[in-house]
Amino acid sequence: MIPINAPQIGEREIEAVVKVLRSGVLTHGLGAGPMVRRFEEEFAKFVEAKHAIAVNSGTAALHMAVVAAGVKRGDEVILPSFTFVATAETVVMAGAKPVFVDINPETYTVSPEEVEKAVTKRTKAVIAVDLYGAPADMKSLREIADKHGLRLIEDAAQAHGAVYDGKPVGVYADLACWSFYASKNMTTGEGGMITTNDGELAEKLRLIRCHGERQKYMSTIIGHNYRMPEIEAAIGLVQLERLPSFLARRRENAETLTVKLCKAENLQLPREQPLCRNSWYLYTVRLKGASRRKRDAIVEQLKSKGIGAEVYYPWPIHMMPPYKRFRRLKLTETEKASEQVFSLPVHPGVKTEQVNFIAETVLSLI
Ligand SMILES: Cc1ncc(COP(=O)(O)O)c(C=O)c1O
Repeated sequence: MIPINAPQIGEREIEAVVKVLRSGVLTHGLGAGPMVRRFEEEFAKFVEAKHAIAVNSGTAALHMAVVAAGVKRGDEVILPSFTFVATAETVVMAGAKPVFVDINPETYTVSPEEVEKAVTKRTKAVIAVDLYGAPADMKSLREIADKHGLRLIEDAAQAHGAVYDGKPVGVYADLACWSFYASKNMTTGEGGMITTNDGELAEKLRLIRCHGERQKYMSTIIGHNYRMPEIEAAIGLVQLERLPSFLARRRENAETLTVKLCKAENLQLPREQPLCRNSWYLYTVRLKGASRRKRDAIVEQLKSKGIGAEVYYPWPIHMMPPYKRFRRLKLTETEKASEQVFSLPVHPGVKTEQVNFIAETVLSLI
């Protein structure tokens, strides 16, 4: 089976872990051990942010971002429904109400026009998602956020290495959230990071990461244990160095798929927007006009031939039982996309002959 994604772990990561184990420093009381601090510095440089705060998952990063943005009980946060559930979950965890809006059917990222329509007196923040590693329309969202005095959070969990308007994704957001889950473009096993240019927000995030403590056993605000262990940070430092080569290989695989699949008139292929570079976390195609049943049958056939195709996401969040009660605008494009898209593997472990096999198999089935 060619998996949809696979961690790329080598001897360097193994050595880095052993070194930490031998050092005896496995974590730090306030979440800022030597490896974590180095990883934060290097990651901040990579995404051109002033501050980076390492945490133990992308979900933790989102939760902390929502709380640091000042989102409280009764507030509304506007976000797409076509994303991984963590994006909405963390809003509910903060006691606030997610308000779901539709996507752009070309990019699958949140539609700025729909975001603006959803703003009310209770809106506190907007969360945009760089879905599949394709940057959201952050300039338009920044304008809307500024016009209405809202915080703008970017869920960049799938977008390490993506570029928007010539800059690393994240720069237009007040807070950008990253995941290092094992399937991601770079991994620490589990892990996450928040980047920001705002010193006050960074300070607040560091407090929330560790029980609200500036010094041990004296909480100044309500916090959590979202600390990243030293072993994870050590893996992250090696993965970050290797990331450019991972990204180049993903791009090569994606471009080969595009060349081969562009003759299929019933497939909508992923396309990079002007001045943007996709991180190619997933190569997602749409089977134009297809029903859910037809799309699912093709995914099953691909799997039976050893191709780990997957659907991200078969059920938009507003259709999941715990989220049905929240406000939403018209979600026509979201529901259509959830019935018609499927993703193909382009991770660095996929060899050129496998990419050719994937393309030929898709063409023979659609
Ligand atoms: C878009 C998106 N948001 C949030 C997350 C949550 O990240 P994690 O699994 O590290 O908690 C993920 C990854 O799984 C994701 O893909």
